[in-house]
Amino acid sequence: MIFKVNKPYPKIKVEEKNYYYANILLNDYSSNISELSAITQYIYQYFDKFNTNQEFSNIMQNIAKVEMFHLELLGKTIKLLGINPKFIFINKNLYNNLTYWNSSFIDYNSNIKLMLKNNIIIEEKAIENYKKDITIISDKYIKKLLNRIIEDEYLHIEIFKYLLNKV
Ligand SMILES: [Fe+2]
Repeated sequence: MIFKVNKPYPKIKVEEKNYYYANILLNDYSSNISELSAITQYIYQYFDKFNTNQEFSNIMQNIAKVEMFHLELLGKTIKLLGINPKFIFINKNLYNNLTYWNSSFIDYNSNIKLMLKNNIIIEEKAIENYKKDITIISDKYIKKLLNRIIEDEYLHIEIFKYLLNKV
């Protein structure tokens, strides 16, 4: 099984510094629906099932590694755009206050079926957010990067659906 699409990633590059774009990417990097949340969500599921469902657990570990690579791509891009890659985001639900990422963003359900259903939902929301960002951001390098990340997230949905069929 492969966990990332077999295509190269674009070079981490930006046309110029842009704080507005950096703040948009912070949302994908470390908000409630973000790469950081996906990593910790999947690592939680990996640890929770390591002794009872090895196939599921191994897959979650491997997908978490791909999400960590996505985090790296976004973090370095945010830095190039001129903002430090802190794990914060502008919270639209809280009067645009700067909010720190926290572990309450994770779903601690222990039922594999519900875990997989939740994972599909967060991947779908992530894709939706990336697609929206691509329409707002005009930097060609960032557009390319987000389009490449989206391809992996679609693959993750396929894997979760495959697992969901088996449980
Ligand atoms: Fe991702």
